[in-house]
Amino acid sequence: MKAIVITKPGGPEVLQLQEVEDPQIKDDEVLIRVEATALNRADTVQRQGSYPTPKGASPYPGLECSGTIESVGKNVSRWKIGDQVCALLSGGGYAEKVAAPAGQVLPVPPGLSLKDAASFPEVACTVWSTIFMTSRLSAGETLLIHGGSSGIGTFAIQIAKYRGSRVFVTAGNEEKLAFCKDIGADVGINYKTEDFVARVKEETGGQGVDVILDCMGASYYRKNLECLNFDGRLFIIGFQGGVSTEFDLRPLVGKRLTVQGAGLRNRSPENKALIINEVEKNVWPAIAEGKVKPIVYITFPLSEAAEGHRLMESNQHIGKILLFS
Ligand SMILES: NC(=O)c1ccc[n+]([C@@H]2O[C@H](COP(=O)([O-])OP(=O)(O)OC[C@H]3O[C@@H](n4cnc5c(N)ncnc54)[C@H](OP(=O)(O)O)[C@@H]3O)[C@@H](O)[C@H]2O)c1
Repeated sequence: MKAIVITKPGGPEVLQLQEVEDPQIKDDEVLIRVEATALNRADTVQRQGSYPTPKGASPYPGLECSGTIESVGKNVSRWKIGDQVCALLSGGGYAEKVAAPAGQVLPVPPGLSLKDAASFPEVACTVWSTIFMTSRLSAGETLLIHGGSSGIGTFAIQIAKYRGSRVFVTAGNEEKLAFCKDIGADVGINYKTEDFVARVKEETGGQGVDVILDCMGASYYRKNLECLNFDGRLFIIGFQGGVSTEFDLRPLVGKRLTVQGAGLRNRSPENKALIINEVEKNVWPAIAEGKVKPIVYITFPLSEAAEGHRLMESNQHIGKILLFS
């Protein structure tokens, strides 16, 4: 089969389409003929050589895909050859075929094209497992999402609105903020021209928000604590603003705050299967109802993966960038 190989750590040009061995499936896996895969920020970090693949994972990039099942392992009962599915992967989505644990596979939600289904597994599992399963965001609460126009952000806005939250977002320009509002955000904050802490306080009568989904890490840590309400929860999923910082412990105690963080890729297959199960129960109906839509900015052929990476690193996109096999 053909796959995108990271020929050496470096810029987008190191991504090359090459002929490689087909993946072999284990007894509890299925082989998927890939229709599409989606880019994630982590793929760019892996390409640069700073995000080693977990043990046993495919060496090729790609944390999610959609496609058609081509063969099934002997312990797999739910899926059969010909099923149209999407899947959460530990790697290997940038290829014509990929092996996936059966517990990480989901049906294509009704009404969605096979291609667009590739835009959901990573964002749905990340957002559901963090702000819903762990931070327990509930109806009537307020949520602040940093990077509202990102793949993660555009999904989080829609599912949080669907579940009855008031949603605040930050983004770096007015076009991105307008888009976030179109898909449900209540308050848009341009982090380049406004102080997000002051704006959150102003919009919440001085209280602050209940939950924050944060992809910045160190650079926003102190400000995030400042704009949380009593019993607020900060969930950190990314370090775009650095990994270490000094902080004052007093707001944690004074406001009874919870700070958590998690990554999806390094979880065990059992843990991922649990998340997939919850996503199918809680998120898939919202997609089937048309309340949560795929936000696909552009699709490139697999052979142009490098173009996709250039676009992602330029930060011009809104939502997901797909590669079509
Ligand atoms: N922990 C996990 O399991 C997990 C899983 C998936 C993703 N993630 C993380 O989630 C984040 C989004 O991932 P993605 O794949 O959706 O990436 P993406 O679409 O490339 O989004 C990155 C976003 O960061 C925003 N951003 C950059 N600087 C910012 C700042 N100072 N304040 C607010 N926003 C800022 C950019 O928007 P602007 O142009 O508006 O700046 C852009 O929308 C990444 O940090 C990624 O590593 C974590």
